[in-house]
Amino acid sequence: MKKLYIETVGCQMNMLDSELVVAALRRDGYELVRTPREADTILYNTCSVRQHAEDKIYSALGRLKHAKTHHPHKIIGVLGCMAQKDQKLIFDRAPYVDLVVGPGQLHQVPDLLKSVAAKRGPRLEVSLDRTAGSRERVAESFESYDPLRTPEMRPSPYQAYVRIMIGCDKFCTYCVVPKVRGPEQSRPPAHILAEVRQLASEGCREVTLLGQTVNSYRYEQDGRSWRLADLLEALHEIEGIDRLKFVTNFPKDMTDDLLQAVRDLPRCCPYLHVPAQSGSDRMLRAMKRGYTVSDYREMLGRIQETLPRAAVTSDFIVGFCGETEADFQATVDLVRESRFKNSFIFKYSERPGTKAYGLLPDDVPEEVKRERNNTLLAIQNAISEEDNQPLIGQEVEVLVEGPSKKSAKKSAGGPVMQLTGRTPCDRIVVFDGTPRQIGQILPITVYDANAFTLFGSIVTQHVGPEVYSLGT
Ligand code: SAH
Ligand code: SF4
Ligand code: F3S
Repeated sequence: MKKLYIETVGCQMNMLDSELVVAALRRDGYELVRTPREADTILYNTCSVRQHAEDKIYSALGRLKHAKTHHPHKIIGVLGCMAQKDQKLIFDRAPYVDLVVGPGQLHQVPDLLKSVAAKRGPRLEVSLDRTAGSRERVAESFESYDPLRTPEMRPSPYQAYVRIMIGCDKFCTYCVVPKVRGPEQSRPPAHILAEVRQLASEGCREVTLLGQTVNSYRYEQDGRSWRLADLLEALHEIEGIDRLKFVTNFPKDMTDDLLQAVRDLPRCCPYLHVPAQSGSDRMLRAMKRGYTVSDYREMLGRIQETLPRAAVTSDFIVGFCGETEADFQATVDLVRESRFKNSFIFKYSERPGTKAYGLLPDDVPEEVKRERNNTLLAIQNAISEEDNQPLIGQEVEVLVEGPSKKSAKKSAGGPVMQLTGRTPCDRIVVFDGTPRQIGQILPITVYDANAFTLFGSIVTQHVGPEVYSLGT
């Protein structure tokens, strides 16, 4: 057996890519190991969205220099977004790397590894740059990588990510994703439906549809136009799928028909991740987000009207080019009034290859960025904690994912262990249960809550003539 170590950073797209690469390599006789030291093939699936994500990988590569000198047969590969962005530069910075493969070329990984093992030298496979040819040619060079799935490769066999789009065409000025993931392309509905049917037949109960702007999904077929709402309706028919989620939404594409689909289809989860990025019109304009704060507020109003119980989450960038204290205060105001379930908050990180790079000076000092980040996070966390309090004493429905981090560290497999799962609104719940409950959807009574986690116990209830409780 060949031994494979893989480390993944970045978004859900990368998690899914890694799952699929590992599945393909397992078919080629690889087994996963836990440390680079034990491995004969070491892969990093990388992210370029912020400098920090790249630094992390370059320092991991730096640590391998020594290992490669002593074990020259070890194969080291860099996959994903940073491979597409930095290309040859990776060999310059780490000459002992054997393989650089962009996200649009992942289907080639098994063959490329064979070629490297046969001493046919280092290999570089990336897609075309966005300015290298016509849109069609560039799009063709980014292949959607969605081979058949195997449940044992997922963190939980009961949950799966399913890609419905690749790439992005929004070109927000700060963002490297359109460059590294290529043109926006929607997958045909028939492929998505077939994949979800297969997942259901393997026991998967929750599917999260992925796209950089998932609600911009559009596919024309036989004179019919498919939007996300149509896709949800078709997926909803698939027996065995109890929950449908989708991320990430673009505010301008949050149409009423989509909100109504989520309202009317009981298996669609009322959970909407719709990043605002800023509460200042000046910043939104500089970011080229294509909406104003009042458009965003209007959208939140429509969500509230159609889906009053929905959990809405957001992303924010603080310290973007030229952000003043007044701009930041406008973001604080938006966070205060919107009461998001949670928000991811990032300090602006200048990215070569984006429109902001070179055109707009990265002029907010690092300590101001840090301060704004901490301030906004504290406000959001207080809101999250406050809004979780009314759930205490309530019953929530949880899809049990597995042992919590705490009990995974201890010896697992005992009769009672701490389990973790999520509600339809994507709230994390921990509670005591048994390994046999993993993969079930159970009612849990919440007895405590902080900003990030609900603590609960399994509801003991009568189901027909039988009693189901802890341990049964
Ligand atoms: N497609 C998604 C997410 C893209 S990346 C969307 O449009 O929302 C995830 C998040 O990273 C973004 O929402 C944004 O908040 C943040 N981000 C992207 N580029 C960044 C940069 N250069 N610096 C800091 N944060 C960034
Ligand atoms: Fe980046 Fe904007 Fe596309 Fe999201 S919508 S991936 S932030 S360019
Ligand atoms: Fe990062 Fe690429 Fe995702 S840049 S955020 S891994 S699409």
